[in-house]
Amino acid sequence: MIDIINFKAMKTNIYEAEIKDEKDFVELALSFGKPMKSRQHGIIIDTLIAVESNIVEKDSLSKRYGLEEFPIHTDCAYLKLPPKYILLRYVGSIENPTPTGIVHFDKSKLSDEEIDFIQKTIWFVKSKDIGFYSPILKDNILRYDKEVMKLVNPKEDKMIDILAKMDRREIQWYKNKVVVINNHTHLHFRPKIKIEENNKRILQRINIV
Ligand SMILES: [Fe+2]
Repeated sequence: MIDIINFKAMKTNIYEAEIKDEKDFVELALSFGKPMKSRQHGIIIDTLIAVESNIVEKDSLSKRYGLEEFPIHTDCAYLKLPPKYILLRYVGSIENPTPTGIVHFDKSKLSDEEIDFIQKTIWFVKSKDIGFYSPILKDNILRYDKEVMKLVNPKEDKMIDILAKMDRREIQWYKNKVVVINNHTHLHFRPKIKIEENNKRILQRINIV
């Protein structure tokens, strides 16, 4: 039985709950769909730990950015079909850690030219194999991550102006808080982390296809 103190569907398609038991976290994930297994170990829970870049060996956002802000992105933008939901659960030891930033991508805020840009302008997406081409919005599914995507003609980039028009909110974390983000309609980012959070701001993540 999931011990949910505060589980509500927000208008923005973000769900929040408090889940004390890891098994219940997995159970909640299963109620949203099929979990994606993490690459290396075949486990469904990824552990995300904010750390300084110099201790990271494998190429990753932590290696590239360390405690600095992570850029706005769709999770797993390199997949032909990025996961529909991302479940995050705070399990770190520091209180009031740096929030996660969420960007609600609302097409109705865009000019006709900007809508054309997100639907028709083609980006090259680096994937595990040869890569593929895609616009930012296709079949109502968002894909945006400049770490793995490059505009064929970089001069055309309108994303700074487009992202500036979108509403942002902050997810404040406390122990066992769970948030479910719709990865097809929202982008997210991690702001710059305080040095005292090094190794202590820990999130569990389950991606749902
Ligand atoms: Fe992410």
